[in-house]
Amino acid sequence: MHFAVLGNPIAHSLSPVIHSYFAKILGLKLSYERILVAAPFAKVAADFFAAGGAGCNVTVPCKLEACAFADSLDDNAAAAGAVNTLKRNADGTISGFNTDGPGLVLDLKRLNMLPDNARILIVGAGGAAQGIVQPLLNAGAEQITLANRHAAKAVKIAAKFASSSKVNAVSLNTLNEGQAAHLARHHYAKSFDLVINATSSSLQHMLPPLEPLILQRAGAAYDLMYTPQGGTIFTRCCTELGLKHCADGIGMLIAQAALSLELWTGQRPDIAQAIAYLQRYLQGRA
Ligand code: ATR
Repeated sequence: MHFAVLGNPIAHSLSPVIHSYFAKILGLKLSYERILVAAPFAKVAADFFAAGGAGCNVTVPCKLEACAFADSLDDNAAAAGAVNTLKRNADGTISGFNTDGPGLVLDLKRLNMLPDNARILIVGAGGAAQGIVQPLLNAGAEQITLANRHAAKAVKIAAKFASSSKVNAVSLNTLNEGQAAHLARHHYAKSFDLVINATSSSLQHMLPPLEPLILQRAGAAYDLMYTPQGGTIFTRCCTELGLKHCADGIGMLIAQAALSLELWTGQRPDIAQAIAYLQRYLQGRA
């Protein structure tokens, strides 16, 4: 079985490391390589499958093109408008999936961070934010608030989910003003069950502009980003504010890969075991 991850740049991708470890613990025989997409994505992907590839992961900036390339899409890929997993079927057709959001849900459940009927704040309104809305709704979220510096981007995403009436959009300024006043008046009021940082701010070592009270009164906080040392500037800030349940996105990274492997082979590796391995690997201890 031959697999790969396609993107540009690709040299930094941890997918081969993760999938080789999965293969080891499951006793599977597979190869997994990095492919730099330097030509149009459709050509690179078609060449990969023509050469016998069974499936591939797709990363930045090719997830939208992978959507167009696939012959069919699962619900999550259709809602995200992006594909991170392609699979060649027995009849030669190619199916497209998005395991990023389901990977997040799997990790949140593992961490006990997703209560029933959760009220969730998603900060950010880029591709990462859009990709997690449908899977969180499928997982039973009661209400999802998308907050972004530029409200128009959040409004655009929320409009795609207008039929569910559970997704609303707001500017970060408006959210901060409204929630701060409410929380200051009601000393025991909760803000959200879960705050998800879906901005890229942690990459710039910056915090999204969020009222500390909103974080302090949240049930849990999760950053889609991760660092080799574990934790991000956002999760550290939340911990300092007294939040007991904070996690970075390393579990989501492992879980989305595990769900891809399951789509290809029917087997799901142990996620906690793989997270522990990747942490050792990133710290040069594996
Ligand atoms: P991705 O596909 O990873 O989501 P993106 O489409 O570039 O990346 O989106 C990045 C998101 O992070 C945007 O919502 C951006 O906010 P704006 O739309 O207002 O620019 C958000 N973002 C990045 N840096 C941020 C920061 N320091 N504070 C708050 N939001 C930030």
